[in-house]
Amino acid sequence: MEVKADSRQFHEIECDALVVAVFEGEKPEEGALAEINKRSNGVITSLIETGEFTGKSGESAYVHNPGDMKARRLLLVGAGKREEFSADNVRKMAGTAARALRGKKARSFAFLRRSQLSIGEGAQAATEGALISLFDPDKYHTSDKTESRLEAMILAAPDADLDEVKRAIERGRIIAEATNFAREVINEPANVMTSAELARRAEEVAKDYGLELDVLDEARMKDLGMGSLMGVAQGSAEPAKMIVLTYSPKAQSSETIAIVGKGVTFDTGGISIKPSDGMEKMKYDMAGGATTIGAMRAIAQLKPSVNVIGIVPAVENMPGGRAQRPGDVVRAMTGKTIEVINTDAEGRLILADAVAYARKLGATKIVDLATLTGAVSVALGDVYVAVLGTDQAWIDQVLAAGKKAGEKIWQLPLDKEYREQIKSEIADIKNVGGRKAGTITGAYFIREFVEDTPWAHLDIASTAWNENGKPHLAVGPTGVCLRTLVNLVCE
Ligand code: BES
Ligand code: MN
Ligand code: ZN
Repeated sequence: MEVKADSRQFHEIECDALVVAVFEGEKPEEGALAEINKRSNGVITSLIETGEFTGKSGESAYVHNPGDMKARRLLLVGAGKREEFSADNVRKMAGTAARALRGKKARSFAFLRRSQLSIGEGAQAATEGALISLFDPDKYHTSDKTESRLEAMILAAPDADLDEVKRAIERGRIIAEATNFAREVINEPANVMTSAELARRAEEVAKDYGLELDVLDEARMKDLGMGSLMGVAQGSAEPAKMIVLTYSPKAQSSETIAIVGKGVTFDTGGISIKPSDGMEKMKYDMAGGATTIGAMRAIAQLKPSVNVIGIVPAVENMPGGRAQRPGDVVRAMTGKTIEVINTDAEGRLILADAVAYARKLGATKIVDLATLTGAVSVALGDVYVAVLGTDQAWIDQVLAAGKKAGEKIWQLPLDKEYREQIKSEIADIKNVGGRKAGTITGAYFIREFVEDTPWAHLDIASTAWNENGKPHLAVGPTGVCLRTLVNLVCE
């Protein structure tokens, strides 16, 4: 779908539907609504008077032949309370409208700007919301795939600076397409999305957008002493890869941000095998990795002024005949020894070597992204992503980037006391910390390998997959945190 800017008045824009946000309690005879209400013979007044429509968030009303305007339909969407309105409402409304109108076979719709947000912020959010909403996970249906005739969304911004709107649309498109790229990759089944295939997708991104790519094979990882990662990989017939994408700005920068994403292409649990019920979902255990590659795709186009490295340790966690056993002791790249109590706590094992490699490549700041613990859904449900780390200033930057992106992130503590839970009798550290504070002990384990580099860890286990679908979002992979990462790097 194309997104265009149009500075004409709303009634002059030819389209299948005009989408208008209406705030709760808003008077149809006043302000911006008055003109729409008048041209449609008071249809907004009657929808509100009958109580059919109140402007609450999530509500909508659809009217054919709305009257004296070139749009063939009018779609009113509830914008909620004016005081609480944010870019995220725009994202959700544009997404809800796009999905609804696609279902009604519309080819084009105009989205009328009418909020206190800056023109750029609003246009970018509307573009992101609409394009992200149109992703569907039904690639493998051989019939009745989601059919779309939607060709254009027109951002109706009367009297606006069109160049500014176009720049915002471009930015929104880059971010939305990167998000949908990540979701596409996450959604692939594990028989398709192997570590080698993930590396191939990264190679395509590198070629298309001008990034440097290095893929470490198992021999190189062994040479580097990545025994922690290799211990996880050894149970699978699929050879592990360490995918490294590098972005370098035009002008030299002393700062290098490393984004490290967990890339477990399938997590059976290994010898500590998971129950079969729901195990099919563990194809999304590479969401962090795919989102890292997606973020690099956007970063390559947005061209921030810092160096950025995207690192994806890609392995499959299988219980093969050569698989590691509970009780095995492995040596990580930093030299630390690890007692593997539970082979299902594999994410931290591969991240230990990946963050160490990020440091070796010169990272001055690290952010990692991982479907690390089931415990995060106990702590925060599927609403918030958890962030933990060592450097409060860096964590604050992550929180601010998330806020701007409309992605909810909540900090959990990482005090020294939690270190007790991952003490081992036989090695420097063990890979699980018992039932208590699972998300924290998982993060603490990674902390042991980042040493003094400012680091933040995002646990997306409960937010990377959307179980039920929403009016603005398909069921399946969300690509969560991609926008946060892009904001973090591109400030
Ligand atoms: N990939 C899982 C975490 C996960 C759970 C992701 C549910 C998405 C949905 C991770 O590798 C794992 O198995 N974690 C264990 C850790 C435990 C053994 C300490 C868990 O959360 O149970
Ligand atoms: Mn696991
Ligand atoms: Zn896992």
